Amino acid sequence: MSASALALTDFALLDDAECEARLLAAKHALGQRCVILGHHYQRDEVFRHADLTGDSLKLSREAAQSEAEYIVFCGVHFMAEVADILSRPEQIAILPDLAAGCSMADMANLKAVERCWRELAEVIDPDQCVTPVTYINSAADLKAFCGRHNGTVCTSSNARKILEWSFDQREKVLFFPDQHLGRNTGYRMGLPLDQMVTWDFTQPRGGLTVEQIKNARIILWKGFCSVHQMFRPEQIDRFLERHPDTQVIAHPECSFEVCEKAQYIGSTEYILKTIREAEPNTRWLVGTELNMVNRLADEVRPHGKAVHFMSPTVCMCSTMFRTDPQHLLWVLENLAAGNVVNRIKVNDGDAHAARLALNRMLQVT
Ligand code: 13P
Ligand code: SF4
Repeated sequence: MSASALALTDFALLDDAECEARLLAAKHALGQRCVILGHHYQRDEVFRHADLTGDSLKLSREAAQSEAEYIVFCGVHFMAEVADILSRPEQIAILPDLAAGCSMADMANLKAVERCWRELAEVIDPDQCVTPVTYINSAADLKAFCGRHNGTVCTSSNARKILEWSFDQREKVLFFPDQHLGRNTGYRMGLPLDQMVTWDFTQPRGGLTVEQIKNARIILWKGFCSVHQMFRPEQIDRFLERHPDTQVIAHPECSFEVCEKAQYIGSTEYILKTIREAEPNTRWLVGTELNMVNRLADEVRPHGKAVHFMSPTVCMCSTMFRTDPQHLLWVLENLAAGNVVNRIKVNDGDAHAARLALNRMLQVT
């Protein structure tokens, strides 16, 4: 932060109404120099200021194609890293609150993945027979690992195509950090559950036998999303008892058991599209983050569609929620005053290797 940057403490206590008016003025002052990207899980007061909204794949593409000097990412840390990696060197990626991480992304780190690769090498030759695939919800150095080992990245909307590409390269896949996305996708491609083994990164050799590793087609990192693991199959059963006419739609980060009970499985963008395009007077039970579900419910209610949240308790992504209008305003007013705050910059070495992995993904999908 430069010496003249506006201090965050002067923004923290502003009320939302004042923020709203000043956000509009700051956006107007910055004009085309700044683009705000907003993930679907952002709270309303932030989401409505996004110039472009989407799921992880759509927002990655927007970041890669943007002409703006500043890319302000209202999402979580790995998303701003992707924006930095895919944008031009002179463009600047910004995350309004640096504490907006992703608990699932934190479940894998480079040291643990390198140890996994070494331990696999005691049983098989991973460079010859394993394609490493990282879910985009991961740190840049893990994308770089995949870039260096001829692997790639996937998102929830292209996981199947990416797994197909990966199996065209080599016979096995190491998939991290989300076991559920990997298992749900592999199963729908026809892989039996016993050929998708779970690598427990707290155990020597992932807690697996030599035979399990040799027979596996997908080795699934034992990570999960703390928000999506709250959805349970019993919640679906109970809801269907009361409303048998319901269609169930879930994000693939939900457990295998939840996805088994869902008629539709897909990314946040897919969920929005499916329900927006559905017939009037339909009822939906949705397993994904609360802010998005509430907004969708309000949007489609006038069309006679009822949208319900799958869990009886509140499950919102607390890190997505960290980006509030006060942080966004602090960033924008600083930019308008010529100060860059909260820049996300991936080191050149990792950025280069991660870009290889991300570009492989973008070419495949
Ligand atoms: P989408 O790519 O479906 O938006 O998912 C991102 C995410 O973090 C879901 O928890
Ligand atoms: Fe990460 Fe889960 Fe939040 Fe998505 S919902 S950003 S996977 S913690």
